[in-house]
Amino acid sequence: AGRRGLIVAIDGPSGAGKSTITKLLADRLGYIHIDTGAMFRTVALAASRAGIAPDNDASLAGLCAGLEIAFVRTNGCCRVTANGEDVTDAIRTPAISTLTSAISARKVVRDVLLRLQRHMAREGGVILEGRDIGTVVFPDADVKFFLSASVEERGRRRYLELKAKGQEVSLEETIAAVARRDEQDSGREHAPLRRADDAVDIDSTGLSIEEVLDRMESIVRERERAF
Ligand code: DC
Repeated sequence: AGRRGLIVAIDGPSGAGKSTITKLLADRLGYIHIDTGAMFRTVALAASRAGIAPDNDASLAGLCAGLEIAFVRTNGCCRVTANGEDVTDAIRTPAISTLTSAISARKVVRDVLLRLQRHMAREGGVILEGRDIGTVVFPDADVKFFLSASVEERGRRRYLELKAKGQEVSLEETIAAVARRDEQDSGREHAPLRRADDAVDIDSTGLSIEEVLDRMESIVRERERAF
């Protein structure tokens, strides 16, 4: 009740273009963008710095309780902060990606972030991107998308991203890492990556960013008219 706009959920596997697409779609719509993967990454970074093993639930619970995660808009775009420190770049390394996959499988961590995500989105006019937004976090979201692309295409995109940042990686390794993460994210017990039954499928293989955005924007606009 009393919401000022729609809640839009975008789920899908890593490297499907979720972050790029969500950011641009949020700009077009004037919505707030909540990158839930960045929230899990921030917990993983904090755990790694504190020397907490990814299966140490008691320590993870304590860590989460003392961690304030926020999205800050500076210079037009979104930075992620942990207790005030800008961690936007630090959470994007391959090591943190791997650790995040393990950390995000822990129920203690998911419970804390679930509450935080619902709180951040309570007023609507938001797009949340993640793995379980349309199934667990907001099963009643106004619009749900499931954004995917072939594993080769996703691996190739991630490879180009890492190369552009000057990281030494091979294409084959990057594709294999994407496939491994898919398996971990889909096979875990708590809130696995799963398409909601009522999600709109968008396969971005071979589509331009503009084409994907146009398709999604028109679906949200149509739903807005009924809001
Ligand atoms: O979207 P991303 O690559 O930044 O996500 C990082 C990791 O966090 C990935 O292994 C999946 C996990 N994740 C999750 O379990 N649930 C979410 N809602 C978002 C991300």
